[in-house]
Amino acid sequence: MPAVLKSTAPFEGQKPGTSGLRKKTRVFMQPGYLENFVQSVFDAIDGAEGKRFVVGGDGRYFNAEAIQTILKMAAANGATEVIVGQGGLLSTPAASHLIRLNGTDGGLILSASHNPGGIDEDFGIKYNISNGGPAPEGVTAKILARTTEIDSYKISDAADMDLTAVGTQVLDQMQVVIVDPVTDYQALMETLFDFNKIRALFAGGFRMRFDAMHAVTGPYATAILEGTLGAPKGTVVNGVPSVDFGKGHPDPNPVWAKTLMDEMFGENAPDFGAASDGDGDRNMIVGAGVYVTPSDSLAVLAANAHLAPGYAKGLAGVARSMPTSAASDRVAEKLGIGSFETPTGWKFFGNLLDAGKVTLCGEESAGTGSDHVREKDGLWAVLLWLNVLAERGLSVQDIRTDHWQTYGRDYYSRHDYEALPVDIANTIMYDLRSQLDTLAGRSVGALTVSGADEFSYLDPVDGSESHQQGIRIFFEGGARAVFRLSGTGTEGATLRVYLQSYVDGSGDLHVETQAALADVIAAASDISGLERTGRDGPDVMT
Ligand code: G1P
Ligand code: ZN
Repeated sequence: MPAVLKSTAPFEGQKPGTSGLRKKTRVFMQPGYLENFVQSVFDAIDGAEGKRFVVGGDGRYFNAEAIQTILKMAAANGATEVIVGQGGLLSTPAASHLIRLNGTDGGLILSASHNPGGIDEDFGIKYNISNGGPAPEGVTAKILARTTEIDSYKISDAADMDLTAVGTQVLDQMQVVIVDPVTDYQALMETLFDFNKIRALFAGGFRMRFDAMHAVTGPYATAILEGTLGAPKGTVVNGVPSVDFGKGHPDPNPVWAKTLMDEMFGENAPDFGAASDGDGDRNMIVGAGVYVTPSDSLAVLAANAHLAPGYAKGLAGVARSMPTSAASDRVAEKLGIGSFETPTGWKFFGNLLDAGKVTLCGEESAGTGSDHVREKDGLWAVLLWLNVLAERGLSVQDIRTDHWQTYGRDYYSRHDYEALPVDIANTIMYDLRSQLDTLAGRSVGALTVSGADEFSYLDPVDGSESHQQGIRIFFEGGARAVFRLSGTGTEGATLRVYLQSYVDGSGDLHVETQAALADVIAAASDISGLERTGRDGPDVMT
């Protein structure tokens, strides 16, 4: 057997964060670094012997090399089959689907999501379990424990494989099944949405722009929107994945998808605009002259999902991460279905979806998804919007205004302070934590604090607990500020401040967001002592 046992020592800091292990690419390129983590994954799941996996990534720098390493390690660890996307490409939702469709034991997904790619940028890897979703905390804890004690890894000394053509090959004893990344995913989308209706919408002159941001969704969007639904060529822009995402930042928000925003807010704007991120799980939704916040998008989709064939029977429930606005709770309440508030990170939705407690889930960070896979899914959200637009025959703007008139509006914004010195970020959080019991009743500018706590989650399905998931400050009148530290950053610490206030449907629904939130922004800054960041304001506001 050409399998080689190599000795190694643990690396520092291989702790999986909000979504797997994410580091600078050069860190991953150190000899043995990726191997340590992959072997720790295999060890943490009681070995890979006789198991089947899905492997793919978003095509960023080091994707191709990492896949060769993983294939050789899977073979040396006794796996019987790996399903891999052609050219090493799979979007995160497509990988989740392939795990479920083929009933594999799990999968390894290579991506640093919306972070830039390149030798001096970011890389990442995460393990998904057999339900297709990110490994839950019990599994990531085992992986972490293993990374601290590992002393060897197994790897085949076979040659690199050619992954350019679809078909089955053999690596030692292991089958390597190379699949078209789009085919099965597209087939799933066709079961959920009324493709004929959407085709008719485009045939009627509906205009759309989809910015794939040089990332993995390009081939998916081109095949589905242009190839199948009849959107004109050129609807998809930046549709060819590149290792450095065209030197861009593949994060679909108004800051990083500015070209799309300019077009959507310019003269002769298309009817509908959308973008997705590096690995295709995030989405941005824009209409002519309107940006739909992810929190609002989740709520609008929850209210309208029954218009798409896949959700015609209605929803079991809706889940959102704690920092996401309460807009979807209002829809759930009206529909008389369950609503759930989970910690940040998609892994917390998995149990709720598996137990059939919820159908739709979403996060304020541009993640929306449903029980069709166990990841958020950017293109899925876009197709559901298209299906709703086709059924309702209204503009994005009219759908959103109608929604606000019915449910009220949750003004919402997230302010990020990026790459802060770790000690300053920790001190801000520590000081907030130590004030929690004394804040209620305090007047801060125009607002009065009604309560404060640190969010903990008790998983209603498996009873597991997650603590310290963000500090919440509630104000009289319904406004809220939330503080938490990012678990995905790769440089220093990133402090996220989430701001929200509510007006009912008869209130003023069209105030500029930052202006509407001015009081809660000021109060949040005052209570937390944000001047200690040394910044004049947030680095990114979404
Ligand atoms: C961020 C988002 C979170 C998302 C995660 C992975 O994590 O805030 O909603 O699940 O990326 O895409 P954070 O950096 O805040 O820990
Ligand atoms: Zn992503």
